[in-house]
Amino acid sequence: MCGIAGLISKHKANIVTRLIRMLKNLEYRGYDSCGIAILSDNSLEVHKSKGKIDAFAVKYNIDSLSSYIGIAHTRWATHGAVTDWNAHPHTDCTNNIAVVHNGIIENYLELKEWLISRGHKFTSETDTEVIPHLVEEFLIETKNIKQALQNTVRKLQGTYAFVMLTTYDSNRLYFAKYGQPLIIGLSDDYIYLASDIPAFLEWTNKAIILRDGDIGYIEPNSWTIENIFRPDLSPPVPVDIPWSPQQAKKGGYPHFMLKEIFEQPDALTRTIMMVPKQLKGVIPLLRNASEIYIIAAGTSYYASLYGQYLFAKYGIKTTSVISSEFISIAGNLVDKDTVILAVSQSGETFDTLNAVKYVKQRGAKIIGLVNVIESSLMRMSHRPIVMGAGPEIGVAATKTFLCQVASLALILTEYLKNEGKNHEEMLNELKDSPQKLKEFLPIADRIARDLAQKIKDVQSAFYLGRGLGFPIALEGALKMKEIAYIHAESYPAGESKHGPIALVEKNFPVIEVVLKDENYDNMVTSIEEMKSRNGFIISLHEKGDEKIRSISNVSIQIPHIHIDISPILYIVPLQLLAYHTSVLRGHNPDRPRNLAKSVTVA
Ligand code: BG6
Repeated sequence: MCGIAGLISKHKANIVTRLIRMLKNLEYRGYDSCGIAILSDNSLEVHKSKGKIDAFAVKYNIDSLSSYIGIAHTRWATHGAVTDWNAHPHTDCTNNIAVVHNGIIENYLELKEWLISRGHKFTSETDTEVIPHLVEEFLIETKNIKQALQNTVRKLQGTYAFVMLTTYDSNRLYFAKYGQPLIIGLSDDYIYLASDIPAFLEWTNKAIILRDGDIGYIEPNSWTIENIFRPDLSPPVPVDIPWSPQQAKKGGYPHFMLKEIFEQPDALTRTIMMVPKQLKGVIPLLRNASEIYIIAAGTSYYASLYGQYLFAKYGIKTTSVISSEFISIAGNLVDKDTVILAVSQSGETFDTLNAVKYVKQRGAKIIGLVNVIESSLMRMSHRPIVMGAGPEIGVAATKTFLCQVASLALILTEYLKNEGKNHEEMLNELKDSPQKLKEFLPIADRIARDLAQKIKDVQSAFYLGRGLGFPIALEGALKMKEIAYIHAESYPAGESKHGPIALVEKNFPVIEVVLKDENYDNMVTSIEEMKSRNGFIISLHEKGDEKIRSISNVSIQIPHIHIDISPILYIVPLQLLAYHTSVLRGHNPDRPRNLAKSVTVA
């Protein structure tokens, strides 16, 4: 998954610095290589190289470049190694057409062969490079850029969002979108194109969210959008994105991840206000379903697993399944009476969208729990639910996990209410949780900072939990893997006895998530078992619980909270532990290697 950007000044002002800023704002989408293409004296100027944007800006002395129109790209490599020549933009043989692309062109090899047979010369191993050459090829016969672009799009198989700059029309940026996000940003002085809203959110929140099949161009004072697959569709209209520019900035924090951890009380408050209003059509769907599957990837999957445990506790059968495995494990069990609750903060994760597309064809009803308004999953859902986390820039999810947990708990309370069952006690504690979390954050931060000093040099660790504690342990371990690169494995504590315990030795960190529920005694036993193998026991447990405190090397005391929403407080010290360990190990928690904010390719 890459980040693409395009920009035109309405007053012929120099856009280069702002274009690079857009790219920086999109860096969480991939940071293997980057590049820009601009027009100077009506000829294309392309600069690109592997590595991060800051180094690129220095290498090409960006401040000395000038143009009123340009495109840019930051890469998450899929096809072709991380090299200068595989970096985007890619151009045609004549260097008059430059393209930046996000997605995968599945039939690029046969297209490349065909183009080479027609004399085209390729300079990269990427799938993307076929696009400018196709446009070049079709321009020869059509002499019309729009026509050449349409012919090109009709040849492409796979997913794509691309922006094209050409000397043949130096006043427009052309684009096409299918299966990858692309958005137009509108402001008084500039018109933007980008993969994601945070690219231009610091300047405007007025946007047009493009749909699959949309093709067209932007120019200084207008835009043209047609749908190549549904010519009857009227063009999408501008919407105001309910996010503030501040939300897309670090706000004085050293990293977006730390800022987003400390934003969790506000994100929760907004979500607790917004979600109940969106459940009217959702609950009847769930209550009338023959089967309910909760599907998701990454952190969203761990929130979904929490949902399965929580619903089961109240006699509601659901099955949470990792999106990329769903079609194999349950695809053929789905029919028109099945309800799929798809969870994805970005609403763009390929594995989740792919499973949703599959089950929709079998007549299933889709409830989409998303954080990004107008995202693909929101549009594909019969009943979308939008959370209030605000933009999440840090690649490792934090505040969106908490908002997913809160949203699933709110769905439960509404479901039970419809069944005439009262769940006020949990609901009231949920409403109090933002304040409780606000008070707990600085304490958790201090504990995590100290503990990170102790474990920063380990290579592996265990995270154990039972029942609702297991998804918390899974998410804690994922954070440590994602940003500190420590091989942290999570197991149901009971299962850890059947093999994994063989790895435990002196000072091997074992994080135990101990909830005050029916699993409490078994968690005490688990601590004793790991301790007897000299494991270094780090326990998260309810405040004032001397028993657990006395048998642990490190005790992290968590204020009392209703068991059903325990992840809201218990995950926070684990988020912060991973964050501080990552920083102490010299890593950038916002840009973990090999990862991207949401993976929009298979
Ligand atoms: C990964 C992100 O690529 O996708 C994770 O790095 C995230 O943080 C996962 O949890 C799923 O993303 P989404 O947008 O579907 O919730």
